[in-house]
Amino acid sequence: MSRITTSTLQKMKDAGQKISTITAYDASFSSQFDQAGIHAMLIGDSLGMVLQGQSDTLPVTVDEICYHTRCVRAGAKNALVMSDLPFMSYATPEQTYENAAKLMRAGANMVKLEGGKWLVETIKGLVERSVPVCGHLGLTPQSVNVFGGFKVQGRDNEKALQMIDDAKQLEAAGIQVLVVECIPTELAKAITEALTIPVIGIGAGNVTDGQILVMHDAFGISVGKIPKFSRNFLNDTNSISDAVALYKSEVESGNFPGPEHSFS
Ligand code: KIV
Repeated sequence: MSRITTSTLQKMKDAGQKISTITAYDASFSSQFDQAGIHAMLIGDSLGMVLQGQSDTLPVTVDEICYHTRCVRAGAKNALVMSDLPFMSYATPEQTYENAAKLMRAGANMVKLEGGKWLVETIKGLVERSVPVCGHLGLTPQSVNVFGGFKVQGRDNEKALQMIDDAKQLEAAGIQVLVVECIPTELAKAITEALTIPVIGIGAGNVTDGQILVMHDAFGISVGKIPKFSRNFLNDTNSISDAVALYKSEVESGNFPGPEHSFS
């Protein structure tokens, strides 16, 4: 397999091929995921929960994401590496450019930020400065205190229409990938059809252009309950490499996620 770039992902969307992505935080796992042919890995601020045992992602710092980005980069030969801009690290455009530069220097190919149209100018500025950007809509975990918990988003018509509009505005501003998290399958379908760029879902049904899972959920090792939208791929396999290969083939065949992992 050759190196995956944003244009590879775009070609996959255009050809109707599903994109398989997963979070990673270290070189050992990223090397296994890379060898399995995973298309992209995310150094998510979920590391605050699954590595640090925090109750949400808010305490995560740019330096921590940089450290884990360097680790993941060391194991990733071909997969595209995306890194999260954590909570309050992109409150102003200047601050965003500085922090995005740190993530790119640590080895990221793309940065991800959470939010809708308030980010338009920030995204345009990043793109003008040669930083590829991934958007994130729906249950954006950095807003957990505004949402009053980790809840499915976009269930009412007004919120759903607003999310479709946000998605279009982010695309027009220059994002090259969009993640949608914990939204009804019907809304995920509308967003995926409305955009020309790849849309990656988590808890958004099997209608998006690709899927992402937090690796600890995909292997059933998260503390507490595995979320409804995830599946433990180690249950049906005997090794991490077989489990990630199964995840990839289930995503690419459209078998995962099934209706039992999705929201209406
Ligand atoms: O932080 C993270 O791991 C994420 C994914 C759940 C999309 O943002």
